Amino acid sequence: MIITIDGPAGVGKGTIAKIISKSLGFKYLDSGAMYRALALFADLNGVSDNDSDRLKKILIDLHIQFIEDEEGERVLLNTDDVTEDIRTNEISTLASKFAANDIVRKILREMQRRMIKDKDYIAEGRDMGTYVFPDAKYKFYLDADLKIRAKRRADQLKEILGINMNEENVAKEISNRDNLDMTRESCPLHPAADAVIIDTSNMTIDEVVLKIKTVIDDA
Ligand code: DC
Repeated sequence: MIITIDGPAGVGKGTIAKIISKSLGFKYLDSGAMYRALALFADLNGVSDNDSDRLKKILIDLHIQFIEDEEGERVLLNTDDVTEDIRTNEISTLASKFAANDIVRKILREMQRRMIKDKDYIAEGRDMGTYVFPDAKYKFYLDADLKIRAKRRADQLKEILGINMNEENVAKEISNRDNLDMTRESCPLHPAADAVIIDTSNMTIDEVVLKIKTVIDDA
């Protein structure tokens, strides 16, 4: 069974998806981490987001793996652990740029479908319920006010990378990214027609988790 959670940057999709996947015993697909790892890989190879010919060539050697250890989920790019490296603001912006390239999306879409084949998964990202898993059993779209999302994202950056970010700058970064993610031609971010939309602006994490579980239990 597949459950999808989509929505804009900083809305808390990852946190919520991890909690629900643990409690249901499902696996968790962080599709954003794949776009981030790909952007890092292309950048290290000196290839830009609009150079589709070179992208096609280098992406043959792209291998992304998620592994669990005592610290939680780790992201491997080929053999390197890039879990923290992919969380910087620079990589956020780059990931969004590369994500607008249709070749990139095709490659990652195939990887994502292969990864979850025949397993129970919560898939989280921008296009999980719309383009990658349109037949998912339950689809959710989380949203929240920009200011609140900026605070959540700044808190997260502090926790993961230990850096203090100005919330106004974070708001600018995520609003630019949302703009790009929502207006690109290839698989833009929007709620699936059959998604349950939840405005989490005034909700705690526990309340969002409960709401999602209630929808699943009531179905
Ligand atoms: O969820 P995130 O912030 O880690 O995602 C980083 C970028 O990757 C996001 O700005 C757009 C892109 N992305 C995407 O286009 N489609 C997805 N399913 C997930 C992420």
